[in-house]
Amino acid sequence: MQTAISIEKIREDFPILKRKVRNDRQLVYFDNAATAQKPIQVINAISNFYTNYNSNIHRAVHALAEEATAAYEMTRDKVAQFLNIKDRQEIVFVRGTTEAINLVAYTWGRQNVNEGDIIVTTEYEHHSNIVPWQLLTQEKGAKLEYIGVSDDGELILDQLDAYLATGRVKLVTISQMSNVLGTITDMPEVMRKCKKAGVRVLVDGAQSVPHMKVDIQQLGCDFFAFSAHKMLGPTGVGVLWAKKELLEQMIPFHGGGDMIREVHKYETTWNDLPYKFEAGTPNIADVIGFSAALDYLNNLGMDYVRNHEIEITKYALEKMSAIKGIVVYGTKDISKRGGVISFNFADIHPHDLATIIDEDGIAIRSGHHCAQVLMERLDVAATSRASFYIYNTKEEVDVLIKSLDRAARLFKL
Ligand code: ALA
Repeated sequence: MQTAISIEKIREDFPILKRKVRNDRQLVYFDNAATAQKPIQVINAISNFYTNYNSNIHRAVHALAEEATAAYEMTRDKVAQFLNIKDRQEIVFVRGTTEAINLVAYTWGRQNVNEGDIIVTTEYEHHSNIVPWQLLTQEKGAKLEYIGVSDDGELILDQLDAYLATGRVKLVTISQMSNVLGTITDMPEVMRKCKKAGVRVLVDGAQSVPHMKVDIQQLGCDFFAFSAHKMLGPTGVGVLWAKKELLEQMIPFHGGGDMIREVHKYETTWNDLPYKFEAGTPNIADVIGFSAALDYLNNLGMDYVRNHEIEITKYALEKMSAIKGIVVYGTKDISKRGGVISFNFADIHPHDLATIIDEDGIAIRSGHHCAQVLMERLDVAATSRASFYIYNTKEEVDVLIKSLDRAARLFKL
């Protein structure tokens, strides 16, 4: 159980949470699955970089360059520690999860996927874990297959067996937590099946890494992608982790400065890992800001983060389920879901509902959540979605419940 005092202390660190929005209402921020708010420590780290040691990295020998390089590279070490990664050379900084997945599709995918091969994904993926694979399979004459989602919002993993039995599956690419349903994928079971079949696995950790303890060595996958901005860090920074032997075999994604060892008129040799995949001046300031986000989460502990979200989500699910006309999607088993609640309210269009709720100062997301394949599966055009993080409180959930009551009155439900 977490005390209200620790929440208050946490909230003090997030200047934006003091904001008033619309009709002078206190902001209630429930759009954390889209992006999390930033603590002052992250904001200060970025500002401190530009104020005191702004410089390019890996190039010059002057004092600023040395300081900037050290701070940038320190983030890599912190990522390694955060996710229990053995080798820092396996950590590639990219712009975000989307770029990480595209990198794998354009390099490893192009080199390894051929006509007739199969890539397996799931019906609850974000578009960023569908579209790159559509592009690849269309180019190669390969097939994209889907593991279905049950009425409880869980993957029907038995379907994976049939795909694996064809002997043609080259990759299973799967989200560790659905951004719409909040479902936590049974990764040990996925890995058991794929290892037995000798099939590579990519894990989209965009929604899982910010909210639960992830140990990449224990997970045993081949590729792992996530973004900093959903875990208190800045936008424009993400990580691709991949096994060293894979990164060594993979062709570069982008050509340019820093990713080379020697360039001649007609040929180039590549820099060591991970720099082979970090062409051009990277997002130095935001990688350094990400470092402060990792410190923040480490100080709290990921068990705290998960337990707090379980508490808030359980409370919200109970309160929402008691409102007539609300349909909540996904499993009711709190141990199998993260802090994301997608719902519909009678026949109120989610955009109308989000607009009414916004008048009360509450930020939720409405729409297809970049998961149109899942919307088709649920047979809805859109849902409303409330998603929680470390600074949200039960009192804020009460504000949402009151706002939903107001919407019911407005629509005469
Ligand atoms: N992927 C983010 C979301 O689910 C943008 O809202």
